[in-house]
Amino acid sequence: MAAAELSKPSYTKTRLFQSSQLSSLSTHLHSHRRLTFRPLHHTRNSRICCSVAPNSSLITRNFSQVQAPAAPEKTQDPKSKAECFGVFCLTYDLIAEEETKSWKKLINIAVSGAAGMISNHLLFKLASGEVFGPDQPIALKLLGSERSLQALEGVAMELEDSLFPLLREVSIGIDPYEVFQDAEWALLIGAKPRGPGMERAGLLDLNGQIFVEQGKALNAVASRNVKVIVVGNPCNTNALICLKNAPNIPAKNFHALTRLDENRAKCQLALKAGVFYDKVSNVTIWGNHSTTQVPDFLNATINGLPVKEVIKDHKWLEEEFTESIQKRGGVLIKKWGRSSAASTAVSIADAMKSLVTPTPEGDWFSSAVYTNGNPYGIAEDLVFSMPCRSKGDGDYELVKDIQFDDYLRKRIAKSEAELQAEKRCVAHLTGQGIAVCDLPEDTMLPGEM
Ligand code: LMR
Repeated sequence: MAAAELSKPSYTKTRLFQSSQLSSLSTHLHSHRRLTFRPLHHTRNSRICCSVAPNSSLITRNFSQVQAPAAPEKTQDPKSKAECFGVFCLTYDLIAEEETKSWKKLINIAVSGAAGMISNHLLFKLASGEVFGPDQPIALKLLGSERSLQALEGVAMELEDSLFPLLREVSIGIDPYEVFQDAEWALLIGAKPRGPGMERAGLLDLNGQIFVEQGKALNAVASRNVKVIVVGNPCNTNALICLKNAPNIPAKNFHALTRLDENRAKCQLALKAGVFYDKVSNVTIWGNHSTTQVPDFLNATINGLPVKEVIKDHKWLEEEFTESIQKRGGVLIKKWGRSSAASTAVSIADAMKSLVTPTPEGDWFSSAVYTNGNPYGIAEDLVFSMPCRSKGDGDYELVKDIQFDDYLRKRIAKSEAELQAEKRCVAHLTGQGIAVCDLPEDTMLPGEM
């Protein structure tokens, strides 16, 4: 029945299949798919039709062995196609009157590392409408690896079982050239953790290779105005690698996530001042998402007053506060035994919301973005966390009226030097020559302490 388009001309809130039904459904569908189905494709009132639930035996491309492809042309091997999942593959008719009239055009959101812990929190926030609002349908395009494909099916099953009205499509796959097709948002969460005995340069290279491929894939198949948020560490340099490999997408559209650091800083300032954290604003994280990052207490405010007027213990601000934010990720790993996941997901949602809603008057948010044209004198051609404002159109501007003092300048320069060293270390991945790794010894990813 699912193999044929439902002919009844009424909106059917689709059938929800039990997980046990999914495998037989997928087997059944598979035998028909090339004859019967059109590719996943939609317009607002379109019939939604697709092929099959995933079958891991079909998928041959090994994401863990990513290599920069010679050319953006991809194999047409149908086995590597991203596949719609379970209930999201059903074909049904929507009668225009029955479709919520105010619903907007569907947004395609691609997520890498989709079977991981961070995604497991994030996907359900996205599907619930928390980020884009209650009138914005979404499609989730989930990228995993061959190893994680079964887990990814589990994630997709949970998304089915959640009956989110705004979640109109879910597809899963292991080939970024398929999964990133038409993506308007790309949340690049997947990255490899540093293995035992691995040098930091090795980690930069290993993860950098992934972001070369993903940059090329975005360049080839994503929306020309895709917004990219890189979360996989080392996220600033991964974002730089990604944007260098996606020359047809504006460099301005690439972000590395430092919103988690901003949220952490707001929380600690609120705690010290004895106020609720909604009273803390204008907090900038400068630089790298590493132990050189600079949480800016010079420009931050509490209840509209400069932080230094509210928190008189300036030694605490310069030493304990700063270090506690720089190292919080690592402390958390020691306690949890794994990286922050839920708070990272919350901060990704916050980062997205900051781009799709107008920034409150006088405030700003932190995001690591491309430095070309920045008004602060920070070296060009880096991805560096800076204060941003948005009109809510997905774009942003850097904030101009920022104060600096010697302490802030010196700290920013250290993070800048670290990012320049990371950049030299990945020159082979950005098309900027031969890599030379002279990374500062004393700086680390938050999770490396
Ligand atoms: C964090 O800040 O919590 C993470 O980036 C830490 C890590 O290295 O995974």
